[in-house]
Amino acid sequence: MALIASHVIFALQETRRFKVISIDNHHNSHPKSLQRVAQIARDALPPNASEQDKESTVIDAWTCDLRNREQVRNVFEHYGKDGIWGVIHIAAYKAVGESSEIPLTYYENNVGATISLLQIMSEYDCTRIVYSSSATVYGTPPVIPIPETTRMKADSPYGKTKVMDETIIEDVCSAEPTRWSALSLRYFNPAGAHPSGLIGEDPLGRPMNLLPLLSHMAIGLVKDSKLQVFGQDYPTPDGTCVRDYLHVVDLAKGHLLALDALGPDSHVFDTCPTNARFKAYNLGKGHGMSVLEMVDAMRKATGFDYKYEVIGRRHGDVPELVADPTLARKELGFNAPQDLVTMCRDLWNWQTKNPKGYGGPDEVLPAGATPTLHQL
Ligand SMILES: NC(=O)c1ccc[n+]([C@@H]2O[C@H](COP(=O)([O-])OP(=O)(O)OC[C@H]3O[C@@H](n4cnc5c(N)ncnc54)[C@H](O)[C@@H]3O)[C@@H](O)[C@H]2O)c1
Repeated sequence: MALIASHVIFALQETRRFKVISIDNHHNSHPKSLQRVAQIARDALPPNASEQDKESTVIDAWTCDLRNREQVRNVFEHYGKDGIWGVIHIAAYKAVGESSEIPLTYYENNVGATISLLQIMSEYDCTRIVYSSSATVYGTPPVIPIPETTRMKADSPYGKTKVMDETIIEDVCSAEPTRWSALSLRYFNPAGAHPSGLIGEDPLGRPMNLLPLLSHMAIGLVKDSKLQVFGQDYPTPDGTCVRDYLHVVDLAKGHLLALDALGPDSHVFDTCPTNARFKAYNLGKGHGMSVLEMVDAMRKATGFDYKYEVIGRRHGDVPELVADPTLARKELGFNAPQDLVTMCRDLWNWQTKNPKGYGGPDEVLPAGATPTLHQL
């Protein structure tokens, strides 16, 4: 839960340069994840930490629904005009399969909420945004590894919400080029957890991604006797789908680089084709791993003897999604150095220290309620 956001918050706090304000409706997160992040940040402080350093480890955590304009406005009002330097917009629904069943819910939460967030940001003169996009914007890409210049052609409603949000944000940057600047980060497959084992992924119900599923199988939360592998007849080395996994801590650091690239000394927009200060970057390692290679890596990390059976291809699966990360490397200085062994080790460390995750979701703020602030 709040997998990426919790790691991003830590990456920001580790620098002691930011005051983090979090907005979450706890649809898929537990407030404990934020308490844990604050704890990791406090533990990382040197003994001679200044009051300002200590203050940078305090998170202003708002329980607030991005779909509720009044709640969001209340948060911005609390800090006043110009009071928030920039926004990293991570919140979204993210289940590809579910998005085909309830598309309107996805469009409302991922697109509607983004429009209203941008409007409120504008009202409060907060015009820098880093956006969480996804490799799903590429659909079935014509070229592997995938450069950012690849046309966007998402297959699922979820992927389309990411394409729409990127389009909307770019349009906003085009309309007011001297006011707005934005970077969209197209994540490939985040994996692992912070090495402390204090924060990690805690999926609601049955995990939908491969690594959390393997981790839940090994810890006994999922009782399946066999992993179902969707197709072994793809044009890949072992016939199973290939994805580009990167450590979530490396991914989180990419957000820090992106925020800095929205600052006054940045040159990332110098090469934009128009005067709109908008750019998208792939965040991936640039190496693919097949399903069977992942199973093997998790077997080594957990000692669990995974059995698997190959069933038919799953509708919508793309054979290979591997990033060309050259642009992010060159322009942002992004790197994802941590290897698969480390990702699996850190995931298993989190899972064994928290066999039941954070312990279930917390209360969700009812519509119309005033957002609540907790300082953690
Ligand atoms: N995890 C992945 O594999 C992956 C890959 C590519 C892109 N992404 C994108 O990264 C982002 C984060 O993914 P994650 O895996 O951390 O997901 P997550 O579900 O763990 O985190 C999303 C957070 O947003 C919150 N949220 C959702 N709707 C909200 C709303 N209306 N108001 C306030 N809070 C709301 C949830 O409670 C949760 O804390 C998403 O935008 C997702 O689309 C994720």
